[in-house]
Amino acid sequence: MSDKDTALRQQAMSEIFTHETTVSGDPYRLTFHHMPPVGLMNDPNGLIQWKGEYHLFYQWMPFKPDHGEKFWGHYISKDLVHWKHEGIALAPSEWYDKDGCYSGSAVSHEDTLYLFYTGNVFNDKGDQEEYQCVAISTDGVHFEKKGPVIHVPNGYTGDFRDPKVWKKEHKWYMVVGAKNQKAQGKVLMYESDDLLQWEFLGPIAGSNENRLGDFGYMWECPDMFELDGTDILLVSPQGLQPDGMKYNNTYQTGYFAGELSFTEPSLEHGAFVELDRGFEFYAPQTFIDDKGRRIMFGWMGVPEQMEQSHPTVNSKWIHCLTVPRVLEWNGEQIIQYPVPELEEMREAVLLHSEITIENDQKAIRGIEGRPIELQIDFEQLDDQFAIELFHYISFSYTKRDGTLTLSRPHLEDKSQTEFRRTVLKEELKKLHILIDTSSIEIFVNGGKEVFTSRMFPQPEDEDILFTSLGETTFSIEQWKLSGYV
Ligand code: FRU
Repeated sequence: MSDKDTALRQQAMSEIFTHETTVSGDPYRLTFHHMPPVGLMNDPNGLIQWKGEYHLFYQWMPFKPDHGEKFWGHYISKDLVHWKHEGIALAPSEWYDKDGCYSGSAVSHEDTLYLFYTGNVFNDKGDQEEYQCVAISTDGVHFEKKGPVIHVPNGYTGDFRDPKVWKKEHKWYMVVGAKNQKAQGKVLMYESDDLLQWEFLGPIAGSNENRLGDFGYMWECPDMFELDGTDILLVSPQGLQPDGMKYNNTYQTGYFAGELSFTEPSLEHGAFVELDRGFEFYAPQTFIDDKGRRIMFGWMGVPEQMEQSHPTVNSKWIHCLTVPRVLEWNGEQIIQYPVPELEEMREAVLLHSEITIENDQKAIRGIEGRPIELQIDFEQLDDQFAIELFHYISFSYTKRDGTLTLSRPHLEDKSQTEFRRTVLKEELKKLHILIDTSSIEIFVNGGKEVFTSRMFPQPEDEDILFTSLGETTFSIEQWKLSGYV
């Protein structure tokens, strides 16, 4: 390890130590979501189950609640519920990653854990250069950097990052997010026999590829995998304009479903589908665990979206991840639900069956507070139904047109309300809601639609109110939760 590496690690550890009480005293600190020990957290990286443990790395700026020269922080768990912060996996110490060890992935090969990440550099002229780099470990905690293994191919720009590696039969493949010299976002594919020598195969999808037309200037964090025989490209394109209910966050995340050809590498795919409808969701990554499940974590944030108006910056930290979610293909679309292991967090339970509300707003005895989990099953719903949480955020459904709406005070201008909407293609049957101190994840009808958002209500406000226009009859189950992150 270089002297610079050692020094950066010491500085980061002392930053954690200096601000520990400030961060842990923040009423908005999360209980069952990953957050940074100090500073800024963004993308989940290097997800893998390795030698019986789940490893979760993340983009981390320890020195300020803002973006900058990223480290890879590291969490480990045996069960996806109880997590230990393992400290620093990678620090931006070398010429090829001096301005950030950016996002990437992990694979296991011959008992060795390989991390693929992007070395980010701003050169003397201030131009961005990005390299795909490798670091290896035999104990899963200490990583030895091996330097760049891929340089930007001809025709592409310095925006060239976020390698995701996987194995198919006897070969290794990698997808990388890129911007070409015409400012078109692309996903590039590589192949390798040994994880160190990589051959460039070409773009498999992107703006102006495969009949897509203009679709953003940069595609970040690609992830390519199979779900029940369908090939899925998960990606975060930048540069899409709002289009009615779609694309209202600064940047989007979604997927293309189709078929990946390896002979002439290209993805034949259908339309882009946003994976989440809430205010904060970006740069997710997936991995497959030993039960064969495709599990995803996302970043509960969006780049350049009102970051400095989050109140937690006053307590020296910002952002968190989503809970781990299982992804499945139901023949038509991806559905998402929290990994069942999270049920271990459930404490006191409360069940009310057959609650009827008619043209009224009501509280329900005992349904309150945070962190909690709610499960609502609708028996009858005439017209409109809404839940208002902590006098801050509300979620509503209008049966007539199927509209689901999430609204909250605008983060910058609190006199305004901001909305995110989508249309549910079937009637509302079920809501499954995970509520932490400052976040909400709403799974609609078994995860056909999901709304993920941060929320910053008055910390002591515990009220949850239910409103119905016409008559709504439902059962509701609530668990108080204990988080172990
Ligand atoms: C996505 C992203 C990645 C990049 C990382 C840097 O949020 O911009 O493209 O690798 O964050 O932190």
